[in-house]
Amino acid sequence: MRKPIMAGNWKMFKTYDEALEFIYAVNQLLPDKNKVETIIFPPAIVLVSLVKRQGENLRIGAQNMHYENHGAYTGEISATMLKSINVKYVLVGHNERRRYNGETDVDVNKKVLTAVNNNIIPMICFGETEEQFLHHDTDIILKRQVCEALKDVKVEDMSDVILAYEPIWAVGTGKTASAKVANDKCGLIRTYISELYNEEISENIRILYGGSVNPQNIQELIKEPNIDGVLVGGASLDAAKFIEMANLCE
Ligand code: 13P
Repeated sequence: MRKPIMAGNWKMFKTYDEALEFIYAVNQLLPDKNKVETIIFPPAIVLVSLVKRQGENLRIGAQNMHYENHGAYTGEISATMLKSINVKYVLVGHNERRRYNGETDVDVNKKVLTAVNNNIIPMICFGETEEQFLHHDTDIILKRQVCEALKDVKVEDMSDVILAYEPIWAVGTGKTASAKVANDKCGLIRTYISELYNEEISENIRILYGGSVNPQNIQELIKEPNIDGVLVGGASLDAAKFIEMANLCE
């Protein structure tokens, strides 16, 4: 039985005060952590404060991390730093970082290896563009992204890895993938994991869907057998919607 995940990626939204206000509003109203893993990925400047104030049923993750543990990399933060403030999750390979920050599959792989080596759980994102989707290239794109991201990741580290299918055409567009498409592609990723590792790993790994998820469409998505939760952008910024979605994941 795979525990469902409700994850909110705040991207570059919310000031310090707004972030604290959100945490105080949601802390007591989230589902039991034994039933749903609820995670927020806020901007880096509020990580310390949110970790200190996170309620029992909330987890805090970073939106990004460098693959080196320290060094002359202006503007970056490292896994060592995240560990020092008790951050246990990190988003890796989000399409916005691939597109706007030039992150390659090789960078994604280095970050995944650094995360698992530092006992930080990477939530690795994969997805195709609209053009690739329309040309029926999704499967080949996903296979390449999954294989590259997990290169040299040991079987014993795979229990600490979370995957997310986020078609780029569905992110921030209001064009949610249909439950069937989302389930098929999450299922396909599961097949790749079984080919790369084994049946047990592929049965146990959690694969989320992301792309214009909201309180209205979340239920039809998470009832699908291959979708183990959601990674939500826009709708996760609203405390009431966040609480509603987290509880619907139960
Ligand atoms: P939206 O929910 O705003 O489409 O964003 C999804 C996303 O990118 C989460 O990482």
